[in-house]
Amino acid sequence: MNLNSLKKTAKKILAIPAVRKTHRSINVVLYGLLSTTKLLAVPYHLIFSRAFDREIFAYTKAIFQYNRKVMQAHPSNIVIRRNIHRLEKGLIMENRRKVFALDYIEETVENYAQLMQSPKKSVLEAGEMQWAYDVLTAYFACTDDTQPLIGRMKTLFESLPKPEGMDSSVKLIPYESKERAKYQTPTYDQFMDLSRKRRSVRWFQDKAVPRELVDKALQAAALAPSACNRQPFKYRIFDDPQMVKKIANIPFGTSGYADNLPMVIVVVGDLSDYFSPRDRHTIYVDAALSVMSFMYALETLGLSSVGIQWPDFGLLESKMKKELNLKEYERPVIVIGVGYAKDEGKIPCSKKKPLDELRSYNDLGASS
Ligand SMILES: Cc1cc2nc3c(=O)[nH]c(=O)nc-3n(C[C@H](O)[C@H](O)[C@H](O)COP(=O)(O)O)c2cc1C
Repeated sequence: MNLNSLKKTAKKILAIPAVRKTHRSINVVLYGLLSTTKLLAVPYHLIFSRAFDREIFAYTKAIFQYNRKVMQAHPSNIVIRRNIHRLEKGLIMENRRKVFALDYIEETVENYAQLMQSPKKSVLEAGEMQWAYDVLTAYFACTDDTQPLIGRMKTLFESLPKPEGMDSSVKLIPYESKERAKYQTPTYDQFMDLSRKRRSVRWFQDKAVPRELVDKALQAAALAPSACNRQPFKYRIFDDPQMVKKIANIPFGTSGYADNLPMVIVVVGDLSDYFSPRDRHTIYVDAALSVMSFMYALETLGLSSVGIQWPDFGLLESKMKKELNLKEYERPVIVIGVGYAKDEGKIPCSKKKPLDELRSYNDLGASS
């Protein structure tokens, strides 16, 4: 049975009231019992439901891959990205200390040296290499080199050649907040208009999406915040009609409109940017923040979009994994449909929650 007929069969089964009612009743009893203690909940999910198997295995593979990756040269290096960012945070401290970053300066400089000395030399993207060079230079200029570790790392850093392809007209180091005044900010009303205008659009014109507009929107998406500036995700974009059709039909959430999407994007998170499962939610948070900027930027360029749920569901995961050749530690976060909205295409009203439901101030909640 192929995926589409399987989805149709599942829908038919779920449409039988008795099936839904029985399923809910079982869940009420089962989860009522499981939720009394972790001693029941954890073994149940490990042995019987297996709902978390893929996630656990993805993390195991990710940590293995992380440790391999830090030793290798890449256009973008995770140790450099994280640690240079941490150095910048140290540099901007109002009461900056003469000695800081002792717990990671050695790892940073050694990694940087390894990249500089690798046979291909400029394996890091030139901008990232310059950022590392400029920040390390600023760090060694203001820290106390009589501290043995700092002194040793400074000597090693200064013994290395300058990275190639540096843009001498800029210094990629912390700067004063007031410098941002040069950017024009939309007014609150303009931003509210953009927010109201952006809606999930599911009906599109039969018109190709210009890649240069998507790239422009991605440039805004790339500016979104991410934990330790790691940007642990990639936009896998498809505009080949055959490929779009294939991929758009994988998620559950596109039924009825998948075939009219002119472009589909799978945002894939990379868990191997982390050395510990404690950061396992970061790919979702970081990708989501970026996607929101992307969607707003598309709107400013006359394009519309729809976010499409990526469920953690075995069959769909293996289908997407196969189509996109995903690694075990790469996980789809969200699928996005993009195109020019059809003027007469309808948009659900999707009433939003009132403010009082959305926020609270200084409310510690009731103890349970
Ligand atoms: C993570 C996420 C998953 C979504 N999944 C689907 C989906 O599978 N199918 C769909 O038609 N719309 C999907 N949407 C769109 C939502 O239904 C839509 O954002 C919501 O109803 C609010 O409407 P609005 O975006 O027009 O404000 C998704 C949106 C998000 C953010």
